[in-house]
Amino acid sequence: MKKKLIAGNWKMNGGLAANEALVQALRAGVGAPACAVALCVPAPYLAQVRELCAGSALNLGAQDVSVHEQGAYTGEVSAAMLRDFGVRYCIVGHSERRQYHGETDATVAVKAQRALAAGITPIVCVGETLAEREAGHTEDVVKRQLAAVIHLNGHCISEIVVAYEPVWAIGTGKTATPAQAQTVHALLRAQLHAASEKSDRIALLYGGSMNAANASELLAQPDIDGGLIGGASLKAPDFLSIIAAAR
Ligand code: PGA
Repeated sequence: MKKKLIAGNWKMNGGLAANEALVQALRAGVGAPACAVALCVPAPYLAQVRELCAGSALNLGAQDVSVHEQGAYTGEVSAAMLRDFGVRYCIVGHSERRQYHGETDATVAVKAQRALAAGITPIVCVGETLAEREAGHTEDVVKRQLAAVIHLNGHCISEIVVAYEPVWAIGTGKTATPAQAQTVHALLRAQLHAASEKSDRIALLYGGSMNAANASELLAQPDIDGGLIGGASLKAPDFLSIIAAAR
């Protein structure tokens, strides 16, 4: 069985002192986990967190990457720059980027491609809004979002991670039930299977108010291979409990 992955998404939270305290507490508690662990931190803190994580089971992650390789793109951060700082994972297409920064399926697909070309594992996020779920469009939406990434990246998709994050569950305390999450994960699994012979190695994460109390049940579903955790990744005891639940 493949290793599960627990990735923390700090979003736009943190500061030098808070980061140090959080990572020290995680280091002290994480030991040799059964799963892979990543911390997706704001870009300015990559260097700091890289040092804090050195020699531990904690891997470095970023939250976004530019669609461009290099050049006159003020404010952007390239995949090569992330690689320079030892980044192993990069979230692409988070719903907050899609919603607030106009990222389209095509943009997300290119971002995944840039990460892959730099040897970074993209964590490709897909998920429906509440209105889309209520209209019965969940399957169409998540499949369309993933299809764009599959089309552009071809056989390389065996190197991606996919995170199913229902938008209505993000930061709301409203988690998808294990059965709701499993249903969508099974659809995504089938779509990946049809696209790649090596799809078995692709981890499918669930994200959206995953916490210390609900992690075990979600992670016990057959097609849930880990979690992308926002709020609960900022509290060391909670994040450590989730890591311990991923075996
Ligand atoms: P949440 O965020 O755990 O705070 O709901 C998850 C995410 O946005 O990745």
